Amino acid sequence: MKALILAGGRGTRLRPLTYTTAKQLIPVANKPIIYFVMEQISAAGIKDIGVIISPETGDSVRQALGDGSRWGAAITYIPQDKPAGLAHAVKTARGFLGDSPFLMFLGDNLVQGGVDELVKSFAAGGSEAIIQLKKVKDPRQFGVAVLGPDRQVLRLVEKPKEPPSDLALVGIYLFGPAVHAAIDRIKPSWRGELEITDAIQEMLTSGCRVQARVLDGWWLDTGKKDDIL
Ligand code: TTP
Repeated sequence: MKALILAGGRGTRLRPLTYTTAKQLIPVANKPIIYFVMEQISAAGIKDIGVIISPETGDSVRQALGDGSRWGAAITYIPQDKPAGLAHAVKTARGFLGDSPFLMFLGDNLVQGGVDELVKSFAAGGSEAIIQLKKVKDPRQFGVAVLGPDRQVLRLVEKPKEPPSDLALVGIYLFGPAVHAAIDRIKPSWRGELEITDAIQEMLTSGCRVQARVLDGWWLDTGKKDDIL
């Protein structure tokens, strides 16, 4: 099992902070956000970690994480030439990922309780992907999942006007190699990005089994002002 941390992106919603700093390096409780991500990945037993970096902030992310040995891990840095979407980041990392199953973790997301259970249940088999969900008050601002019995995902809807459920996608995913073929089949969205929700929906359409786990603890998307406060 490998891990892929997404630490590129534009960070426009956190301006002006992100004019001078990578948002993943903003300290929370005196520690850069991405350190919490590294700790949780390492605690789940994953030591082979790819980190997506941008041309603007890549050097500072490299400086902060080094070779990963502080967490008993080995880091491979993967430059993404432009922030063309979460699925584009996976595509960029294809050489590093090969056909390995992997944990994808957005470098600005924090969850309570870590990812150990999630990784274990994916390793036990039975699905081509597991997505992490969280009940939210206003699902209209999120990617939303519709579940069937037995926690399998039936479909995903991006920022629905009339949400079919209150379960939002958290920035933590587990994928098998089938995700790559799905990414190859999707087109950029209206905002010009290759969306990971479209790739997961494409997996579902082509018959892949995608399961969900609902997070009980807290979830913070520190790419947003209120969450980081
Ligand atoms: P987002 O917060 O969705 O995107 P962003 O960083 O461009 O932010 P904003 O909308 O405020 O401009 O990204 C989630 C995480 O994924 C974050 O850590 C940045 C990273 N990311 C990449 O590494 N590559 C990408 O192409 C994108 C879109 C995001």
